[in-house]
Amino acid sequence: MAEVERVQAVASSLSKSTDTIPAEYIRSEKEQPAETTVQGVVLNVPVIDMSEREEELAEKVGEASREWGIFQVVNHGIPEEVTAELQRVGKEFFELPQEEKEAVAKDGGGGVEGYGTTLQKDLEGKRGWVDHLFHKVWPPSAINYRFWPKTPPSYREANEEYAKRLREVGDRLLRSLSLSLGLEGHEVKEAAGGEDIIYLLKINYYPPCPRPDLALGVVAHTDMSAITILVPNEVQGLQVFKDNHWYDVKYIPNALIIHIGDQIEILSNGKYKSVLHRTTVNKEKTRMSWPVFLEPPPEFEVGPIPKLVDEKNPAKYKTKKYKDFAYCKLNKLPQ
Ligand code: OGA
Ligand code: NI
Repeated sequence: MAEVERVQAVASSLSKSTDTIPAEYIRSEKEQPAETTVQGVVLNVPVIDMSEREEELAEKVGEASREWGIFQVVNHGIPEEVTAELQRVGKEFFELPQEEKEAVAKDGGGGVEGYGTTLQKDLEGKRGWVDHLFHKVWPPSAINYRFWPKTPPSYREANEEYAKRLREVGDRLLRSLSLSLGLEGHEVKEAAGGEDIIYLLKINYYPPCPRPDLALGVVAHTDMSAITILVPNEVQGLQVFKDNHWYDVKYIPNALIIHIGDQIEILSNGKYKSVLHRTTVNKEKTRMSWPVFLEPPPEFEVGPIPKLVDEKNPAKYKTKKYKDFAYCKLNKLPQ
């Protein structure tokens, strides 16, 4: 059995009628969703139609990335069946008996891949109400199938198909981000790792929680990635921090949710902003989400694109290897 107790196991051990949760999941008052969410407002983040012409698309993606750091895309070209299949096989995996899920658990070597639960409690000693599975889906040379579930048998095909389609979306978004900075279409992608960009899939599994007013799923953070492309299930839970307040985000059916991550903020020299976000949980329903993080390879150096830096616009960020950025961020060290 795992040394860390899975949140899914904690949740299913609670009696149906209870309205208490273990103390380590109760956030401090300044973090509790009931205390800190603007009630009754669901934020309409920009919705962008990806079937638009290249110039219009670039303009809209650029504007949303400057002002919001988050947007949704529709008409993105990924067939509904492909996304539905990704969701179906992921859900089936999480519904397996606990021991079977442990077969793809993280291996203790400190790598991010595998099934797990955030190990370290955060600074306040609190835990998130969520389990996860991480594995790379692209490029083939980076994939380790040891972390891909064997059950259901169609897991692999579903994930490969989704990854293939997603790369086209990723390329078009990176191109739009580049054009909107006044650069050539390929420059942003190149500055984020080019053809070696790693597509790291995460599945978040948020079991029902008797006290969604007191707990959080994923705590407030910005993604370390260049961009993140996410599909949620139908259960609301994503929140963004905007104008100093936390808001629920409205979902559009079949849209993909795009987060600008830290690496795009850095290489754009601050023109684009990574977005602060977190997730809440639900009293009756299981929430799931499938973010894919587009990340530079570990040894790849990311810094402000030289063309965006001059006397009037000095570099606001250091240039460093992605693995060093990640190390500092995960250990809460200055960059
Ligand atoms: C994450 C994340 C959001 C969600 O895992 O980094 O922000 O909607 N997830 O689950
Ligand atoms: Ni995130």
